[in-house]
Order: sequence, then C-alpha cells, then structure tokens
Amino acid sequence: EKGGYDHFMLKEIYEQPQAIRDTFRGRMLVDQGLIKMAGIDDHIDKFLNARRILIVACGTSWHAGLVAEYIFEDLARIPVEVEYASEFRYRNPVIDKDDILIAISQSGETADTMAAIKMAKDKGAFVFGVCNVVGSSISREAHAGAYTHAGPEIGVASTKAFTTQITVLTLIALQLAKRKGKISTSDFHRYLQELDTIPDKVEKALNSNDHIEKIAAIYKDAPNCLYLGRGFNFPVALEGALKLKEISYIHAEGYPAAEMKHGPIALIDEQMPVVVIATRKGHYEKVVSNIQEIKSRSGKIIGIVTEGDVDVRDLADHVIEVPDTIEFMTPLLTTIPLQLLSYHIAVMLGKNVDQPRNLAKSVTVE
Ligand code: M6R
Repeated sequence: EKGGYDHFMLKEIYEQPQAIRDTFRGRMLVDQGLIKMAGIDDHIDKFLNARRILIVACGTSWHAGLVAEYIFEDLARIPVEVEYASEFRYRNPVIDKDDILIAISQSGETADTMAAIKMAKDKGAFVFGVCNVVGSSISREAHAGAYTHAGPEIGVASTKAFTTQITVLTLIALQLAKRKGKISTSDFHRYLQELDTIPDKVEKALNSNDHIEKIAAIYKDAPNCLYLGRGFNFPVALEGALKLKEISYIHAEGYPAAEMKHGPIALIDEQMPVVVIATRKGHYEKVVSNIQEIKSRSGKIIGIVTEGDVDVRDLADHVIEVPDTIEFMTPLLTTIPLQLLSYHIAVMLGKNVDQPRNLAKSVTVE
C-alpha cells in the first residue's frame, strides 16, 4: 500500500509530479491556450464583479491560501484577504454579497472551515470550495468548487495536497486575469506552457533527495530552526516550518526574511540552522543581504536556490537547487526540498512520520 516507500509521507511527496499533472489535466489546454474550469466558468460574472476574495482555511491549506493571495493580486488584480477559519468565524467580519469566499481544505471536513462557510453563506457571499476529498462536507456545502486531484493523502503531514491546492488556485488566478484583461494573451500562453513543465521540474527537485538526506543528518539534533522567505515564498517558509515541527517536534518558525531584524535575529547563533528560500527571481538581492546578516551572526545557512546559483552558494553552508521557473510558480518547486528535509530529520529521530503525536488527519472538532 505504501508502494515500496517506507512511509506514506515519502510516497506522497514523490507522487507530486503526477498529482499536479492530474490536477491540471482536462482543465489546462495548452495547445489551445485555454483554461476550462466549470466551477469558475459557470459563475464567471460573480468572479468578475467580486469586490474582493476572502480565503479561509487552516494549517497547510491556509499557507496555500497565502500563496494564492500573492498570485491573485499580482495576476488578476483582485483584492484578497486570507484568514484562519477559526479567527474569521468568531470575529464578526464584514462580509457582503459581492464577496467571494474561497474555502481551502484537503479533507473537506475541517470544523472551523465549515463554520466559516456557513457564516459567509448566511451573509450572502458566494462560496467556492477547493477540496481534495470528493463528496466531502465542505465540497457539498459550497456553491461551487474545484477539486484538487491529489488522490488520497494518508500522511498526517500534508504534502501533495498543498502543491495541488496551489495548482488549482494558480489556474483560477490565470483564468480570472485573462477574463479581466489583466494579462496579455501572449503572457497567458507563456504561463500555461510554463505550468505544463512544472511536474517535470518537481521531478528534478526530487532528485536532490540524497543530498537533502545528508543535510538532514547534520541538523537533526538542532533544538530550533528558522525558515525565511519573501514574496511568493514567504508562505512556503511558514509551510516548511510547520512541516518540521509537526513531524520531528523540533521548534521551528517561519518568517518573512525582512522581519528578521525586528526580533528573530536575536535568536541567531552558531547553533541555529536557518533555511532561506533564495531563488533567483523575486527580491533575490534583498534575500542575499538577509543571508549576509545571518552569516555575520554565525547562523548556519541552508539556501534553497535556483539551479546554477553562485552568490548564495558562496555564503551558505549548504545549498539545495531547484529548477528555474516563472516567479509566481516557484512555490511549487521550493516546497519540495523543505518537505524532504523535514521527512529525513523526523525519520532519523525515530519519530512516527505518518502519524505524529497529538495530531489527526482531519480536525472535525473545533
Ligand atoms: O483538511 P484540511 O486541509 O482542512 O486540514 C487543515 C489542517 O488541519 C492541515 O493542513 C494540518 O495543518 C496538516 N497537519 C498540515 O500538515
């Protein structure tokens, strides 16, 4: 059942190229330069006239929502707010009928996310679900939706659900950007062609597994770990930290790299591994200067870099390469090494990777 892998989590990490492909199959018609998504196309006026999009979710799905916020605003120019479902439902938020609520949930059963949907429906908002489990409660409660086609995710730590959520949300952002006239036809085509190459690039990123395992062996006994990223990769830093803490029980924090000097930099010493997402696109120079700040305080730097990078390689203790891509698609690649790093550390520490203590796969009570 684990298909020759030691754990479901590793199997699911390796399933990502196929899961992403399955998620855009039939929806992204590269040759015709088209995206077809019934859940969006059937309600296109609602989306085109939306005053803003509210995204609610929990945990990893919330991180996918944050990535989507950056992509939606950048491409489609629609204002987006992302909230923890548990906060949203209890804080008397301003919602009206021109708002669209996108609820993201792998299981489709998360109690807080469900409650947020019911509240938004009561206030007249249009609710769109992004779920993985077909026929789940959230998928039935939403007015419309789009499934991620990740297949069953058994490991409690979410992996392929995250990258396929980002894939679906990217398709939606592209479709809306096109329909709103915010991107040119040639850019739209270029983006579809690039997205089509992502599964192969994820495959390439997975090829660093042995190298990542060696890095894991060096840092497995660290009591703390910091994850930094900027822009589209800030949420990936949060996700990397969540992955490490939930399966290895090492305390980890994710931060926007520039927030370092507002507090967390005080934590840096020679004991502190700092994972920095520093792909060549997107504030690269600024991230490099953040890395210099860490280095001058003797922090240990693990850089997630674009293939062929030299600047970060010079500064960092270790680098892990991912293929080059268009900036807003980098989260689909930078996530991969962070999943593998957490996995190997947890295995080396002898933890129960697929069923970490205190956690359940779906959180059906608040
Ligand atoms: O099923 P959902 O996507 O609604 O679940 C949300 C969170 O409970 C989930 O992502 C959780 O944080 C995972 N353990 C993360 O790996």
